[in-house]
Amino acid sequence: MTTTKKIAVAGATGRLGKHVVDVLTEQGHEVVAFSRKNGVDIETGAGLVEALDGVQVVIDASSTPSADKDIATEFFTAAARNLHEAGLKAGVERLVVVSIIGIDNTTAGYNAAKLAHEQRVLEGPLPVQILRAAQFHELVEVMTQWGTQGDVAYVAKMRTQLVAARTVAEALVDLAVNPALESAAAPFPEIAGPQPETMAGAAALFTARVGGPSQIVESSDPDNTDREAFEDGTLLPGPHATLAGPTYAEWLEATYPAAN
Ligand SMILES: NC(=O)c1ccc[n+]([C@@H]2O[C@H](COP(=O)([O-])OP(=O)(O)OC[C@H]3O[C@@H](n4cnc5c(N)ncnc54)[C@H](OP(=O)(O)O)[C@@H]3O)[C@@H](O)[C@H]2O)c1
Repeated sequence: MTTTKKIAVAGATGRLGKHVVDVLTEQGHEVVAFSRKNGVDIETGAGLVEALDGVQVVIDASSTPSADKDIATEFFTAAARNLHEAGLKAGVERLVVVSIIGIDNTTAGYNAAKLAHEQRVLEGPLPVQILRAAQFHELVEVMTQWGTQGDVAYVAKMRTQLVAARTVAEALVDLAVNPALESAAAPFPEIAGPQPETMAGAAALFTARVGGPSQIVESSDPDNTDREAFEDGTLLPGPHATLAGPTYAEWLEATYPAAN
């Protein structure tokens, strides 16, 4: 039987955070769900110590909408610093943080900011567990929208093992409630979906089911220094990763049931 805990979720309204809240609630934990919507700002630290009162573990599922390396680095490193400082004051025991598979050698944009995030959060003082996840099923719609020009969506050429945010949430909660799993890190635990896909292939499945631009064009940006990493499989999970369904196609069917 799992002992229930008081667990805070930062970024509780986001694509991932809302599933983390659901999983924790279903398991009977006491949940402190916060984001700027209820007055807690992880970047400035406003309201953080108060929100963490009595909390044992924090799961950080917050993010910035910016893909600019400097802006995103500022967000994530400030968030890491503030979580440690406020967590220490409030008596938090551990932080559980989500990152991205394969970012070790990325140098540009959001992925490079997440690498800085990992480095800052590991500097302590609180114990930290990092879980690296593949791109979420929920990201396909976002990337399709970003690339849409008229009736064509230009989607970055990317090999990825897409995973449902709900599946990532379940893995994060496992880490939060079972500290023994920490020793399983090799070096960071990874969670990904059951099979490799391409972002453009997934975008085509998405538009066929939900609607949107009639054509998907896989595009390769020569100015992106991480282009090779996107294209050569660097973002795919390692041999120690946990692979868990649903597949993207199964998720689409369940999320957007066909109208009868
Ligand atoms: N999306 C993916 O494919 C993917 C893949 C692997 C890993 N990840 C990681 O998963 C995490 C969550 O990503 P996501 O896609 O779920 O993000 P998201 O949907 O953009 O959600 C971001 C959350 O952070 C909150 N937030 C933003 N600024 C904040 C601030 N200053 N203070 C407090 N809360 C703030 C937002 O709520 P408010 O606006 O109300 O503040 C929202 O709840 C990130 O660390 C990301 O790197 C994502």
